[in-house]
Amino acid sequence: MTVDHEQQLQKTRQYWDAAAATFDDEPDHGLRDPLVRRAWSEHLTNWLPPAPASILDVGCGTGSLTVLLAELGYEVTGLDLSPAMVAHATAKVRAAGQRVTFWVMDAAFPQLDGQRFDAIVCRHLLWALPQPAAVLRRWVELLAPGGRLVLIEGYWETGAGLRAHRRSSMRSQLPQMECWCSHSAMRQRCGVAR
Ligand SMILES: C[S@@+](CC[C@H](N)C(=O)[O-])C[C@H]1O[C@@H](n2cnc3c(N)ncnc32)[C@H](O)[C@@H]1O
Repeated sequence: MTVDHEQQLQKTRQYWDAAAATFDDEPDHGLRDPLVRRAWSEHLTNWLPPAPASILDVGCGTGSLTVLLAELGYEVTGLDLSPAMVAHATAKVRAAGQRVTFWVMDAAFPQLDGQRFDAIVCRHLLWALPQPAAVLRRWVELLAPGGRLVLIEGYWETGAGLRAHRRSSMRSQLPQMECWCSHSAMRQRCGVAR
């Protein structure tokens, strides 16, 4: 890891630590509406192998999807760079009476002692990582044989997000892309790959 990368990580960590307390106020972040939560649970069930498969939620943030996954009966590990985000996620999981293992870590270079997962879920992080194609290669290596990578990305009014030309360069990293669909209701794009 270069000094530049370490400095960038520091800035990113500070940014998300500061955002953690109010992150869930956005409806699409906190998923406080029971109908919205149910819609996400149904999507996750459709995309993922049956519970109790092991799932890594990369860039889990305040744990809004993490807790849904645990409630669906998955064995969940959450990973995020921001200690404040992980603190919120831990509290949310506890309040729901669920158990999840959390790691504070750079998702671009996950150090998980050779652990493998039946699936990796990542919502709204890949776009923000430098060299996303290389990161995808590392994530695929974390999958157990036949494992599945579920990417949920978007492109927002602010200019943030993944545009089509960047997505197509990343597709080559994914051995079997099953679908790359635009979900207009959620204004997000979802990719499921093995
Ligand atoms: C837009 S939020 C998405 C949170 C969550 N996935 C969700 O959908 O609600 C992006 C998250 O990625 C985390 N993050 C940013 N850079 C990261 C990195 N290099 N490694 C791990 N997590 C990172 C942030 O701390 C933040 O929690």
